[in-house]
Amino acid sequence: MPVILGIESSCDETAAALVKNGKLLANIVAGQEVHRQWGGVIPELASRAHQQHIVPVIDQTLKESKILPSEIDAVAFTRGPGLLGSLLVGTSFAKAFALALGKPLIEVNHMQAHILAHFIRKTEDGSGKTEPSFPFLCLTVSGGHTQLVRAEDPYTFRVLGETIDDAAGEAFDKTAKILGLPYPGGPLIDKNAVNGNADAFHFPEANIPGLNYSFSGLKTSVMYFVRDELKKDEKFLEKRMNDICASVQFTIIKTLLHKLEKAADAEGIKSIGLAGGVSANSGLRTALTVLGKKKNWNTFIPPFEYCTDNAAMIAMAGHFKFLKGEFADQSVSPLPRYHL
Ligand code: KG4
Ligand code: ZN
Repeated sequence: MPVILGIESSCDETAAALVKNGKLLANIVAGQEVHRQWGGVIPELASRAHQQHIVPVIDQTLKESKILPSEIDAVAFTRGPGLLGSLLVGTSFAKAFALALGKPLIEVNHMQAHILAHFIRKTEDGSGKTEPSFPFLCLTVSGGHTQLVRAEDPYTFRVLGETIDDAAGEAFDKTAKILGLPYPGGPLIDKNAVNGNADAFHFPEANIPGLNYSFSGLKTSVMYFVRDELKKDEKFLEKRMNDICASVQFTIIKTLLHKLEKAADAEGIKSIGLAGGVSANSGLRTALTVLGKKKNWNTFIPPFEYCTDNAAMIAMAGHFKFLKGEFADQSVSPLPRYHL
């Protein structure tokens, strides 16, 4: 009956969670408003905010789960990938806490944890919940990553393709910035796109070989398009905002699903998952469901709170590693470029 404390601090969310025998007892996330005014995450401000948030977040997690520190069997934490200063706060706290408790440490790869978010349970036996069966294919789309991963089992992952430049979330956020929308722009593009015409404007899909992605060209083409249209009509953005958002979103989704379909066909896999913050996008969720029906796939999308950065997924990854006895020692340090 392992009780695992999970700690996440890779970017701009300070989070902690407790999982007991695979069942989630508490999941606390503290966001950082300080970045909004800058239009993106400022690393130095993020690490300072983590330092302020980490103790209250852990405290609230323990209180909510009604677990005493002495009942914790292991402390799992995000080792990377992420911002060095941010990772240092979670790693240092985890090491000190594990040392004080005399309990083992478990280091977790943040991208593996996003995939293992599919296995977060509200009950110990998983009743009432459907989960992907291994092997499955996962499209992980966040602000920092875009990866197509074949998950063999909870410990074995193979990256089949990934972005060579911007992540899908960055494509949303950078486009939003060009359109004058605040950070993070992804949710706003999603909202505007609902009332827009996706065929109104055409943006090119990057022609990258294999299963890799590229999104930096899209941002550039939106930038030149908007510049040219504004020369003709200075009210262009006001008049056509919904149509631009719908057209850009359509291009991102088409690109994402195009390679996902290619990968699923090549691997002969019909169990398909979606993970990461961009999986909150309503257009992507609908398009995946439609494509899944057409291809006869079983599709899985975790609830929104487990798609964006959280510690429930870190505790869950820690749970699996605990079962295998995979522990880290006190010399462990963050890996900002931790590969899957
Ligand atoms: O996984 P996440 O919370 O943090 C990272 O690890 O990056 O993902 C954040 C990203 C941001 O780029 C945000 O704009 C995007 O997810 N996002 C969305 C939506 N909700 C969040 N993008 C498009 N549509 C949404 N509804
Ligand atoms: Zn993430």
